Amino acid sequence: MKTYDLTKTAIKTFIPAEQEIALSTEDLHVFYGLHEQIKGVSLQFPRYKISAVIGSSGSGKSTYLRSLNRMNDEIQTARVTGKIMYRGLDINQNNIDVFEMRKHIGMVFQRPNPFAKSIYDNIVFAPQRHGIKNKQVLDELVETTLQQAGLWNEVKDTLHKSALALSGGQQQRLCIARAIALKPDILLLDEPASALDPISTSVVEDTLAQLKAQYTIIIVTHNMQQAARVSDYTAFFHQGVALEYAETNQIFTQPAIQATDDYVSGHFG
Ligand SMILES: Nc1ncnc2c1ncn2[C@@H]1O[C@H](COP(=O)(O)OP(=O)(O)O)[C@@H](O)[C@H]1O
Ligand SMILES: [Mg+2]
Repeated sequence: MKTYDLTKTAIKTFIPAEQEIALSTEDLHVFYGLHEQIKGVSLQFPRYKISAVIGSSGSGKSTYLRSLNRMNDEIQTARVTGKIMYRGLDINQNNIDVFEMRKHIGMVFQRPNPFAKSIYDNIVFAPQRHGIKNKQVLDELVETTLQQAGLWNEVKDTLHKSALALSGGQQQRLCIARAIALKPDILLLDEPASALDPISTSVVEDTLAQLKAQYTIIIVTHNMQQAARVSDYTAFFHQGVALEYAETNQIFTQPAIQATDDYVSGHFG
């Protein structure tokens, strides 16, 4: 196992005048008990772009992603320090209304996890909790989000059937539709295609490419081809450190750091 110098990083910051930043972290650390698993990550995520987080298993990708909309709050032992800047506000502060914040920063998990409800009810559940009651508005929301998620044509005649009867790929697109039903600004996805077959994966990737026009997307993937295919920017994580962050093309063709080079060329570890 090669060891790499974790103090030498190449992190590109994107100048707001040229490229608006939707979300950023400043010196973010995550501890589980006494174990520090994210060691001071500062990254900026440009608006209406897809940023990928890559790195080997255990490098901290999910931990970092979960911190971005405070999902680590649900883990008893987790402690997150540093800033998470969203619209000029540090959303890592105690006084933030997390329920409200997650309306703006939504998440899709690795395993499709639809509710044991109808397709329709999966989508309207959260909007109803946020106060939308009008049936016509909800009907329209169901149609537009399913269209955006690339699922409408397959399910438009079975909206009141159980979501659990859908295939894995359809369930994951339903989970994307559910996440965008709250009209979030930012969509976080943790290996959304890892449990899917290649055809479903390619449909989900096409869906993301469509969504980019309206959403800022941050996607964790251990699949490098996927990162290369879908993302504009890529961050390479190793042992809880973002070693390199730049345009995806640069990461895959001219990485600045030896570890990145080894990882993308398959000579890592
Ligand atoms: N809930 C948790 N409690 C304690 N340790 C955790 C927890 N989740 C992840 N870890 C540890 O944090 C490190 C990073 O994990 P993770 O973020 O899941 O990495 P990745 O998504 O890149 O595979 C690993 O060493 C893992 O064992
Ligand atoms: Mg993970």
